[in-house]
Amino acid sequence: MIRDAARPLERFSFPDSDFALDVSQGLSNPHKALSPRFFYDSIGSALFEEITQLSEYYLTRVEGAILGAHAAEIAYDEPLGGMLVEFGSGSSRKTEILLDALPSLAAYVAVDVSESALYEARSRLASRYPSLDIRPIVADFSYPIDYPLDLAELHRIGFFPGSTIGNLTPHEAVRLLVVMRNSLARSGRLIIGVDLKKDPRRLLAAYNDAAGVTAAFNLNLLARINRELAGSFDLKAFRHHAIYNAHEGRIEMHIISLKDQSVTVLGQQIEFRAGERIHTENSYKYAVEQFQGLARSAGWIARRVWLDEDRLFSVHELISP
Ligand code: SAH
Ligand code: AVI
Repeated sequence: MIRDAARPLERFSFPDSDFALDVSQGLSNPHKALSPRFFYDSIGSALFEEITQLSEYYLTRVEGAILGAHAAEIAYDEPLGGMLVEFGSGSSRKTEILLDALPSLAAYVAVDVSESALYEARSRLASRYPSLDIRPIVADFSYPIDYPLDLAELHRIGFFPGSTIGNLTPHEAVRLLVVMRNSLARSGRLIIGVDLKKDPRRLLAAYNDAAGVTAAFNLNLLARINRELAGSFDLKAFRHHAIYNAHEGRIEMHIISLKDQSVTVLGQQIEFRAGERIHTENSYKYAVEQFQGLARSAGWIARRVWLDEDRLFSVHELISP
């Protein structure tokens, strides 16, 4: 099998993820908004990796610790020779905890929109797990996975870490959990990381880090528009803003215009008033029972849940009835 780092990735069409269309529509609305899916070009993926190392961003560290503490339990009833299917796999760092606990897995399917993240993860994992069939797929996880034919019959365990589910509204999250239940059909088990509700001060620190990495991650969306869509954003004339919306139970990230200004994107002129915001991301936080309710609405059985001592983060095991 070729394990060349430059080997092209498998890719599927994503019907709904055209960057130019999202930007043109999102910036024409009275309430300007962009989809967080577009944060992750190569620079955005690298900035997200930096975020995961920040002391304020407890999510990655705590989820890794929960997975490490319970990997053997998770692996216990997994049949030999199956495949791990990960949604929004990014750097696949936490995946290694499961791969180490599941040495008899035949294949690892990593689904992500970020090509650079998939290339990097594949080359690192290929040298660490030489007998594993590593299959990165460039695709939007909101749509059913078209598995490579040679893997279609393998037993499947799903993995959706990082609380990426929190970047969807609860309604969208239920829809996604239904799609994932179908994608994991037959064996039907999903290990999913979900950030918990907590003191808003802790949340605000995680999304307003002192080193300004989250700000750079947020503003990279404008830089990406400049790079890919002939945009004329002056990054110094905008700033990062993160708030906790207690009513909705979510962190919101916005980009605020510091003055009245007009910007062009693909020849289209867009006006900004001083103080006007672009809503770039929601990050919902769920109590354990609240998330289990969502999972049930999507037809899953919430079988087990693991938390850290400080109740910062949850890892749920969902199974198909
Ligand atoms: N799972 C990793 C990365 C989380 S960051 C972790 O837990 O640290 C979120 C990841 O999901 C990014 O790599 C991003 O590229 C990917 N992503 C976001 N929206 C996506 C979508 N709609 N389809 C596929 N991947 C997506
Ligand atoms: C990927 N996702 C779960 C991250 C989050 O915490 O919502 C993205 C992120 N946004 C700002 N910091 C990290």
